[in-house]
Amino acid sequence: MGMSVTISVATEQDAEQIFRLQYLCFQSEAALYGNYRIDPLIQSLDSVREEVAADCVFVARLGEEVVGSVRGRVTEDGAASIGKLCVHPRLQGHGIGARLLRAAEAALVEERGAKRFRLQAGHRSEGNLRLYRRVGYETVGTSQGDDGVPMIVLEKPAGVYATTA
Ligand SMILES: CC(C)(COP(=O)(O)OP(=O)(O)OC[C@H]1O[C@@H](n2cnc3c(N)ncnc32)[C@H](O)[C@@H]1OP(=O)(O)O)[C@@H](O)C(=O)NCCC(=O)NCCS
Repeated sequence: MGMSVTISVATEQDAEQIFRLQYLCFQSEAALYGNYRIDPLIQSLDSVREEVAADCVFVARLGEEVVGSVRGRVTEDGAASIGKLCVHPRLQGHGIGARLLRAAEAALVEERGAKRFRLQAGHRSEGNLRLYRRVGYETVGTSQGDDGVPMIVLEKPAGVYATTA
């Protein structure tokens, strides 16, 4: 591909770039649902900072620029919840989203003992659902967030897919 995008653990210094990037990336989802109050758009910078400190957060970098991000945390039932996967619109469709997802899955297993992965996608977000199914996720149910957007819940067991970053 010739693109030198690297994936690494996010540091405190990345929080502001992640905050701005997610605001940009999730505009398309907001437009799709006609809802500009979805979580990635209303999350505060302080809350992003807290997640970077506590959760498994990865960034994709092109030089100094953060061009992608994902977060994950292990929940009470042992499943890791993965979310806010985003890639800068100008760099989408080159596999960076899939690489971020793989990095988060591997770290969640190796560092936090995750047994399963869980994520959610808006019910009309065909591209996102396609990406998740391609890497092994299956629909396990539906949910509705505070913002009212119906979501599809997908899961996969931590297994062969997650052993390499
Ligand atoms: C969802 C998102 C993170 C995906 O990131 P991405 O980097 O584009 O993801 P990938 O490149 O791994 O996969 C996307 C597509 O590119 C294709 N692709 C991957 N590598 C490729 C390559 N080297 N050459 C050409 N196409 C490629 C994939 O097959 C996939 O195609 P599909 O949509 O037909 O299934 C990105 O679209 C985004 O930020 N969206 C807005 C925020 C959002 O909705 N986040 C998810 C919330 S659930």
